Amino acid sequence: MRFFVDTADVAAIAELNDLGMVDGVTTNPSLILKSGRDILEVTKEICAIVSGPVSAEVVALKADDMIAEGRKLAAIAPNIAVKVPLTWDGLKTCKVLTGEGFMVNVTLCFSANQALLAAKAGATFISPFIGRLDDINLDGLEVISDIRQIYDNYGFDTQILAASVRSANHVTQCALIGADVVTAPPAVIKAMASHVLTDKGLEQFMSDWAKTGQKIL
Ligand code: E4P
Repeated sequence: MRFFVDTADVAAIAELNDLGMVDGVTTNPSLILKSGRDILEVTKEICAIVSGPVSAEVVALKADDMIAEGRKLAAIAPNIAVKVPLTWDGLKTCKVLTGEGFMVNVTLCFSANQALLAAKAGATFISPFIGRLDDINLDGLEVISDIRQIYDNYGFDTQILAASVRSANHVTQCALIGADVVTAPPAVIKAMASHVLTDKGLEQFMSDWAKTGQKIL
């Protein structure tokens, strides 16, 4: 399973990338706001660090404007995936930009039907938002599972990029379902390393080691 990191925080991306944990990056307008950076500058910086797909999102609502924005974003680096919302205009944009050879990530997906349309429009990635579905008492993981089955039934190449991931358990469940990629905030990726028994075991080992009076270095 590939890990994308869901942030525009360059330092956090670099730290995880050095550990080999970053296969790509996703950003969105809210994450750009949080970074306090200029979208073109920060995206270029991220693309210089990470060789995998880096999603940069259009903000226009009409297809013609989205296409123009998408071309400008795609010109930043060859590994840009243009992110478009799952609207009718977004689907038109997806069809045009994938036809021009660009990677397109269709975002704000909340249903299997939306994912089916994105695949028909040639999307490189579909981003179903698990956490936001869970927030309204729907089952985000069930949507991922439904999309997996539908894509496999018909051999669609569109990659399932599980998004709005809020917990380490979401990552486990997505891996079990067979999502192609998970995009998660740095804190969730780090939380995957934590286990209460690891902490407890380490504490015991340190305590026993101190009693030996030995040193390795
Ligand atoms: C995905 O590409 C989005 O940037 C992101 O996963 C949204 O997550 P949120 O619902 O936690 O904001």
